[in-house]
Amino acid sequence: MEKIKIGLIGAGGIVQSAHIPSLKKIKDVEITAIADINKEKLKYVGEKFEIKYTFTEWEKLVEADIDAVVISSPNVFHAQQSIRAMESGKDVLCEKPVCLTSEEAEKIFKVAEDTKRIFMAAFPRRFSGEAKVLKPMIDKGELGEIYYIKASYLRRRGIPGLGTWFTDKKLAGGGPMIDVGVHILDFVIYLIGAPEPEMIIGSKYEKFKDKAVDGGWPPLETRIGDKTTGKIDVEDLACGFVKLSNGATLFIEASWAGNSETGMRVSLFGTKAGVQMPDPQESKNPLRIFSENNGVLMDIIPHIPVSDSFYEEVVHFIECIRKRKSPITKKKEIISVVKIIEGIYKSAETGNPVVF
Ligand SMILES: NC(=O)c1ccc[n+]([C@@H]2O[C@H](COP(=O)([O-])OP(=O)(O)OC[C@H]3O[C@@H](n4cnc5c(N)ncnc54)[C@H](O)[C@@H]3O)[C@@H](O)[C@H]2O)c1
Repeated sequence: MEKIKIGLIGAGGIVQSAHIPSLKKIKDVEITAIADINKEKLKYVGEKFEIKYTFTEWEKLVEADIDAVVISSPNVFHAQQSIRAMESGKDVLCEKPVCLTSEEAEKIFKVAEDTKRIFMAAFPRRFSGEAKVLKPMIDKGELGEIYYIKASYLRRRGIPGLGTWFTDKKLAGGGPMIDVGVHILDFVIYLIGAPEPEMIIGSKYEKFKDKAVDGGWPPLETRIGDKTTGKIDVEDLACGFVKLSNGATLFIEASWAGNSETGMRVSLFGTKAGVQMPDPQESKNPLRIFSENNGVLMDIIPHIPVSDSFYEEVVHFIECIRKRKSPITKKKEIISVVKIIEGIYKSAETGNPVVF
């Protein structure tokens, strides 16, 4: 079997800690090229992982003799890099949040259709044990109609890359809602069948600017040569109340800093059963399914399969490339996710609800 040749755009934390180690485990895959504007980091990563070609301009990487591109640059570049890569004949795995606006998202999927390239969004929680348990149950109607959803991703003191692109609105598009809220939002939109937003009320706050603490991401050893500007013009907490096209209501909240509990949680309220998904780190508080059998209320505790989400994500991408198969991340889901985040920020900025 011929090797699939991969080019990486961005040589930062997620690439060094997840994408390269995962891709290296797959037989018949070669990491052929890498691009980053940071020369020092590019050289270090290129040498450490024995990557043949290094580029300081990503435009050259997408023209190189490779089959696919994995995009892990700051958020603002995702749309243009995905589009240019597909137009150059490459399949694309693009890091979350995929892009900053629904207009960009529509364009990405139009280019994917026109060029017949694979476009996959990197949402590792789709490959989590929790998703493997819940998705088939929901698809078979075992929870009934899901009419209320709460999704939460909270940190107490943990601003990633404080003072780098992460906290610069121009480069990141926003703070915790677009950075980590997007994970939990994609997870629930995928689970419940991708309804679209009809009305959104959003709020956001910047209360920790003066006492901001770097959250340790990207891992310190991956930050070679990174420069900080010290700029923080994104929120540290955002939340949204979303009425969905299937009649359901979603409440979502995300923070990098706040005086609250921490972790990633989901509650699903269905007419036949409900789900409480505590943070996967809380081993003493397992995922519960609230059900009823013959008039008796029951709590079911499923055994959650162990998964290696980042590895399974790239395995799926490579399989889609080989079999020319449509990836797990569908256009309808991604557009809905991007629209909800865009709507939360718009509502928070204007003070008005966003009605679609
Ligand atoms: N899926 C996940 O769980 C997950 C986790 C962390 C980050 N991410 C996403 O991955 C992306 C990168 O995050 P990170 O944590 O690796 O950040 P990082 O800051 O460690 O890495 C980003 C890299 O991009 C480089 N860069 C900047 N501008 C560039 C350009 N124009 N072209 C090429 N490279 C450029 C920077 O020099 C840096 O090395 C972000 O979109 C982030 O949201 C996803």
